[in-house]
Amino acid sequence: MNAIQLLKEDHTKVKTLFNQFEATDSDSEKEKIYEKFKKEIEVHTHIEETIFYPALKEKKELEDITLEGIEEHHVVDVLFREIDNLVGDSEKFEPKAKVLIENVEHHIQEEEGEMFPKVKENFSDQELEEMGSKMEAEKKSFQKSQSAGAGK
Ligand SMILES: [Fe+2]
Ligand SMILES: [Fe+2]
Repeated sequence: MNAIQLLKEDHTKVKTLFNQFEATDSDSEKEKIYEKFKKEIEVHTHIEETIFYPALKEKKELEDITLEGIEEHHVVDVLFREIDNLVGDSEKFEPKAKVLIENVEHHIQEEEGEMFPKVKENFSDQELEEMGSKMEAEKKSFQKSQSAGAGK
């Protein structure tokens, strides 16, 4: 599968979960949806950081936007850790989750609006296919380790 197509499908999935999160008034429902998008975002940023971004960084034209992307992932990661460390039904859960969602939405916009068009200019279709296949395989093995760790 083409790398950009694969990443865009992930983005759509995450945005759908964000909409569900915003649409429900139930706290327990929000927590369930939060866990779902956390898993999706974890695997997505993992394949970007291990396969996609390292290839992009090799291209002069993509270096800055890739470095910025890594920092944006970092901010989201910090927010996930903060939210996971909240005790009980903290009043901070929802506002923190909202800030996280805004950050991810902004990041997706930058990837799709700025980064991906440049990627298309700098990589051949064949290269994008190869990257996509690698990411698909890495995604599967990461998800396996996610579900293996879930029982802890
Ligand atoms: Fe992405
Ligand atoms: Fe990303």
